[in-house]
Amino acid sequence: MKVFNKVIVVTGAGGGIGRELVTQLLGKGARVAAILHKSGLEEIKSLTGVYGDKISTHIANLANRDDVEKLPEEIIAVHGCIDGIINNAGIIQPFRSLNDLDYEQIQRVMDVNFYGTLYMCKSFLPHLLSRPEAYITNVSSMGGFLPVPLQSIYCASKGAVKMLTEGLHLELRGTNVGVTIVCPGGVDTNLVRNSGIEMEGVESHSYKMLSPNKAAALIIEGMENKKYRVLAGNDSKIMDFLYRLNPKKATDIIAKKIKTL
Ligand SMILES: NC(=O)c1ccc[n+]([C@@H]2O[C@H](COP(=O)([O-])OP(=O)(O)OC[C@H]3O[C@@H](n4cnc5c(N)ncnc54)[C@H](OP(=O)(O)O)[C@@H]3O)[C@@H](O)[C@H]2O)c1
Repeated sequence: MKVFNKVIVVTGAGGGIGRELVTQLLGKGARVAAILHKSGLEEIKSLTGVYGDKISTHIANLANRDDVEKLPEEIIAVHGCIDGIINNAGIIQPFRSLNDLDYEQIQRVMDVNFYGTLYMCKSFLPHLLSRPEAYITNVSSMGGFLPVPLQSIYCASKGAVKMLTEGLHLELRGTNVGVTIVCPGGVDTNLVRNSGIEMEGVESHSYKMLSPNKAAALIIEGMENKKYRVLAGNDSKIMDFLYRLNPKKATDIIAKKIKTL
């Protein structure tokens, strides 16, 4: 679905990949409803100087179903309709084994990553189905198809997002709503800190990561070209290939790589 003149909702718009999505979508002539949580309001609002009423900001905690269910009406009141949603918001878990995680930490990750995405899809789908053409893009992760050490719950939540999205793609075949799943590898953002996790050395590792700018461009390209799946980054592409070839070996390789960081 070409984004020119379309109304696109972006979650996690306050920073990282989300903020890049917002600016690139506006640059391509889309109208954007930027969903913010705690951060980024000033930066996103400053875009109104350039794009005027083509951008609107909305505050929501995606883990809260009531917050999400209010969004479609709020956004339609501003832009008149909605053509696409990009469910980009997400958090990681503390780098701990399952044995050392408490249920509160587990619940938080599932609530934001899985239930947040689910609430968004369920709340917007009835309207999207009424549009001539519409789109849902969900951001999972390389961790959605491959276990990353000390991120079992994050990976489980992203695996759930991946299956939800692929299931939706199947259900919506032959309708006006296209669906894409995105699995980025490492992207150079503040995801760790924004998730409330203290970790020494994450700013000074040698892992070559994708820029948020490039990740956003690949996500939009995936929507515009109606791709089934976007593997954003060479790490994601290589690990996807290896995982299919030999899942256990792929898991050993990622474990070794992470250990060197
Ligand atoms: N960076 C990577 O290496 C990487 C790799 C694979 C997948 N991803 C995925 O890419 C997506 C974007 O992440 P990013 O790297 O750009 O990190 P980021 O800058 O931290 O973006 C995540 C966004 O999610 C928002 N968010 C968190 N909890 C929320 C909640 N309860 N309600 C609403 N919004 C909430 C955050 O807003 P606040 O900060 O205001 O809370 C933030 O803007 C995430 O889904 C992440 O899992 C990232």
